[in-house]
Amino acid sequence: MEFQIKSGLPEKQRTACVVVGVFEPRRLIGPAEDLDKASGGYLSALIRRGDLEGKLGQWLLLHDVPNTLSDRVLLIGCGRERELADEQYRRIISLTARTLNETGSMEAVSYLPELNVKGRDIHWNLRQALETTQDALYRFDQLKTKKDTTRRPLRKMVFCVPSRRELNDGEKAITEGQAIANGVALAKNLANLPGNICTPTYLAEQAIEIASRFPKITTTVMDEPEMLSLGMGALLSVAKGSRQAPKLITMNYKGGKKAKPIVLVGKGLTFDAGGISLKSAGDMDEMKYDMCGAAAVFGTLSAVAEMNLPLNVIGITPCSENLPDGNANKPGDVVTSMSGQTIEILNTDAEGRLILCDSLTYAEQFDPDVVIDIATLTGACVVALGSHASGLLGNHNPLIHELLNAGKVSGDRAWELPLWDEYQDQLKSNFADMANVGGREAGTITAACFLARYAKKFHWAHLDIAGTAWRRGKDKGATGRPVPLLTQYILARVQP
Ligand code: BES
Ligand code: MN
Ligand code: ZN
Repeated sequence: MEFQIKSGLPEKQRTACVVVGVFEPRRLIGPAEDLDKASGGYLSALIRRGDLEGKLGQWLLLHDVPNTLSDRVLLIGCGRERELADEQYRRIISLTARTLNETGSMEAVSYLPELNVKGRDIHWNLRQALETTQDALYRFDQLKTKKDTTRRPLRKMVFCVPSRRELNDGEKAITEGQAIANGVALAKNLANLPGNICTPTYLAEQAIEIASRFPKITTTVMDEPEMLSLGMGALLSVAKGSRQAPKLITMNYKGGKKAKPIVLVGKGLTFDAGGISLKSAGDMDEMKYDMCGAAAVFGTLSAVAEMNLPLNVIGITPCSENLPDGNANKPGDVVTSMSGQTIEILNTDAEGRLILCDSLTYAEQFDPDVVIDIATLTGACVVALGSHASGLLGNHNPLIHELLNAGKVSGDRAWELPLWDEYQDQLKSNFADMANVGGREAGTITAACFLARYAKKFHWAHLDIAGTAWRRGKDKGATGRPVPLLTQYILARVQP
C-alpha cells in the first residue's frame, strides 16, 4: 500500500474516488461543500432527500458526480461535530479503508485528515489515518491455500491537507506513520504464526533477518551453553521442559552517539501450555500469542530503525516454550536465578517472570537509561483491564508518566496499577528467597512485584499486555500492540 499527501480542490482530483465527510445531522464538511458547489448542489440535494444522515458508521458511494474529475465520491458519516475525538476519528478512517477496498477503488484521495479532532493537529491526524488504514486492511492468509482475495483492492491512498504550508510536516507524519504501521504488521505476522512454525529458533532467524535490513541494528543470539555459564537458572528451568532450544536474542540499534540505551525486554514464550501446572484445554491455542512481548520488541526496533532515530535502543527477547515433560519444572522446585536470588516454583504456569527475571539481570550490563519489559504475563490483567488498556507498573514515576502519555497520543493506552511494598509479602516462600506466585489476589501486581526484585539497579517499567496483544473470538488475531505506544515513547524522547 502506497501513501501520499497533497493539497488541492476535491473537484479537481483525477482519481478513482474522492472521500469527504458529513456531520450529523446532514451537514456537509468543508471539502464536501466545495464538491457540492462545483456539482451545482448535487450532494446537498441527496442529503436533503434523506440519503445520508451523517451518523458515525454510515456511508454513501456516488458515481459520476457532475463537474468532478473523479470516478466516485464516497461520503462518510462523521457523527456529531462536537463529539469528534480520537476514537470516533479512528472508526471513520477504518470504515473508509474497508469500504474503499471492497467497492473497487484501487486509488483514493481522502479529505478526512482535515477533520477537526478534539485536541489534535494535522500531524496527528495524518499519522493516525495511515496507521488505522493499514490496520483495517491487514490480513493474515499466508497459511491458507485458498486466499480470500479482493478483486480490486485499495492500493494507493492520498491524504489531503488544507494548504501547501502543511506539506512538509505532513510528509514527516506519513514517514512516521508508515514506520509504525510496518512495525505493527511485523509484530502481528510473527504473533499470528502458530507455535509449530514460530519457535524460538524461528524468532532468532527473524531477528537476524530484520537486522540485515537495517545497517544500524546488530543482532546476537545466545544459546543454552552461554545461558548456563551466565547462571540463568530461572530461564533455563522453563526451557528444559521443551524440545525446542531456548534463545536469548539481543538486537542492538545504534542511532545515537554515546547516550545510554533504552532497553526493551520482551517475553517470547512461543507456546505456553502451562508446564506441569497444565492449562485447561479451552482456548489453549491462544497461548501461541505468549510471544507477543518479543514480537512488539521486534516491531518497535524496526520502526525506530526505519525512522533512523538518533538514539540507542536495545531489544532483549528471551524465547522458549513452556510444556509438560519428564524434564520440566515441578511445583516445589527451587531454582537459582542469574542474580543469585533463589525462587520456589509453586506454579509452573507462572513461567513468564522466570524467563524475564534473568533477562532483566542480563540487561544491567548495557548500563540502561531505562528498561521497559513487555509481557503477556497474567490472566489477571485481562480480568482487571479487559482489552482496552495494557497494565503498567514500575519503579520510576517520570518513566510511568511518559509511557502513559505515549499511550494517549498513540491511542495504544496503558493504565497504571500500584506497585506498593505491601504486595511483596505475598511472594514469601518457606524454602527460597521468593515464590514465583503470590496467590489469587492482585495477580498482575504480584507478578510485577516479582520482576521488581530484578530491576533494582535501573529505572524500570513493566507493561502487561495479556489483554491487549491479541483479539479473542470471531476476529481472533494479533493487534501489534504495544508497538505504537513504545514507538511514540521513543519518538517523544527524541523530540520532547
Ligand atoms: N501467558 C500466561 C498469561 C495469560 C493467561 C495471558 C491468559 C493471556 C491469557 C502466563 O504465563 C500465565 O500462565 N500466568 C498465570 C499466572 C498464575 C499461575 C499466577 C495466570 O495468569 O494464570
Ligand atoms: Mn503461563
Ligand atoms: Zn505465559
